[in-house]
Amino acid sequence: MDNNIVWQHYAVSKQDRSEQKQHRPCIIWFTGFSGSGKSTVAGALEHALHQAGVHTYLLDGDNVRHGLCKDLAFSDSDRQENIRRVGEVAKLMLDAGLVVLTAFISPFAAERKMVRDLVAEGEFIEVFLDTPLAVCEQRDPKGLYVKARAGEIKHFTGIDSEYQIPANPEIVLDTSKNQLSDSVAQLVSYLKQQHIIG
Ligand code: PPS
Repeated sequence: MDNNIVWQHYAVSKQDRSEQKQHRPCIIWFTGFSGSGKSTVAGALEHALHQAGVHTYLLDGDNVRHGLCKDLAFSDSDRQENIRRVGEVAKLMLDAGLVVLTAFISPFAAERKMVRDLVAEGEFIEVFLDTPLAVCEQRDPKGLYVKARAGEIKHFTGIDSEYQIPANPEIVLDTSKNQLSDSVAQLVSYLKQQHIIG
């Protein structure tokens, strides 16, 4: 970065922006295989938080790849850049005082740590969707695993592209064992325990 670029500080802080709200800002980062339930659980949690008056935004892999990241594919380096951009956007939204939910495969530990390190301790909550690959493949909601097995999609996570299991996620969910409502309840309970929501 150019040495002549200097960070600007303003009078209204992240705390000020979320002061009148019912929550403390944070990033709830969902990671797991395609079909593991990231979008479903993130969407249901966002709905519950929204009903409770929490100001939220959900960043979703498929959606972000229609715009901000439409130039990126699924090579390791494109996935790294995808997560770098999303991490920076999530940080801006955190600064705006929101509870930010993200649903990205985010297969590599280094990029997940990079995002964690962008924000303060306690502001990054990693939620690992530990749904077995066999279950994700059986669900195959978009028919992508069939295409990947047939060699029609290259670099598909879990087939011919690596997923690095999170070492110390704040929350682990297995959507093949838990009901959606139980997963949401577990997350809400964690957020209350951490005083993120009241
Ligand atoms: S990543 O790895 O975090 O950059 O991926 P992400 O931005 O979350 O995008 C994942 C969605 O893209 C679709 N898709 C693929 N996934 C994995 N590997 C390959 N090669 C691929 N090609 C397309 C797929 O629908 C993913 O959505 P989810 O919601 O995870 O099923």
